[in-house]
Amino acid sequence: MAFQKEIVNWYLRNKRDLPWRNTRDPYVIWLSEIILQQTRVEQGLPYFNRFLEAYPTVVDFANASETQVLKLWQGLGYYSRGRNMLYTAKQIVELYQGAFPVNYAALIQLKGVGDYTAAAISSFSSDEMKPVVDGNVFRVLSRYFGIETAINSTAGKKQFLDLANELIEGQLPSLYNQAIMEFGALQCKPKSPDCSVCPLQSSCYARKMDVVSMLPVKEKKLKKRIRYFNYFVCTKDQELLVKRRGAGDIWQELYDFPLIESGRPYYEMEEEFMSLLRKSFGAEVLIKVLDQKKHLLTHQTIYVQFFALDNYIINFNQNAEIKWVTLTEFDTLPQPKVITNFISSYSLN
Ligand code: ADE
Ligand code: SF4
Repeated sequence: MAFQKEIVNWYLRNKRDLPWRNTRDPYVIWLSEIILQQTRVEQGLPYFNRFLEAYPTVVDFANASETQVLKLWQGLGYYSRGRNMLYTAKQIVELYQGAFPVNYAALIQLKGVGDYTAAAISSFSSDEMKPVVDGNVFRVLSRYFGIETAINSTAGKKQFLDLANELIEGQLPSLYNQAIMEFGALQCKPKSPDCSVCPLQSSCYARKMDVVSMLPVKEKKLKKRIRYFNYFVCTKDQELLVKRRGAGDIWQELYDFPLIESGRPYYEMEEEFMSLLRKSFGAEVLIKVLDQKKHLLTHQTIYVQFFALDNYIINFNQNAEIKWVTLTEFDTLPQPKVITNFISSYSLN
């Protein structure tokens, strides 16, 4: 209880006077939350004011043109959010006759409204007992309670949400939620918070153990390697040219097709791509796009492109790795799934 009381007391003494805090109107709160997902408070304020002036109610918003909305959104980036807002406003007019919902269950159904936003709107507008868990809250909780579970892991999200649910019990949700977010934004800041003036300093785990800069823990998403596989489907007399894959890469010993791998999509490297193609398949070769697939592996994303060829010659060594087979023979050879899927939707002629 001491934790919540200190947070709320700190808030009452230190909060910024922000326009969306002086209202219970779920539409106005929604507007502010969507904008604040996109930018910081200082930058978001003028946008908030302009939107609210242009559209004082959700019905006004629903009647706006997309161009007008995007113009007001201009500079915030991620324009699908702006478009989604218009969609949501129209939805609210249709489904609720313009009465913006205030309960979590209805809010979470709306486009662009996730767990955090639904908790924020429902608690701020109607004091529904839903804890907000945003970046600020993750930081405060992980430091104060010494939680080292990664905030972006499944286990971490559950652990923090469970704790947040316990902590909000018995609190006034609108006040407590605003308070803990503001505490994270202004006092328990990401970089070098001034713990010496913090009301929680005597009971804070991170302060006591000197691990403030190490919390919260975030799992590094390892960057997936992106590859482009351009496959050429060559057919002749009911036969198909296939290739056995060598060692040192994915799909060892499996069979696929003649392949040009590129570091970029083929259509972004037209001349270069055609010249590579001519080297293997002769100067007269023509390509026709057959299909494309995105293939996800644990550490790689492979954009797979299938082409048919016309006017080609086989201008490379046909060795044990490359051979002509019938579809029936090919069926008996081990293949990557992406090849099997392609074959099953493809008719040889
Ligand atoms: N960031 C996201 N929501 C906020 C709010 N309601 N007040 C201040 N900062 C915020
Ligand atoms: Fe955050 Fe420091 Fe306060 Fe702990 S003592 S809650 S780390 S500001």
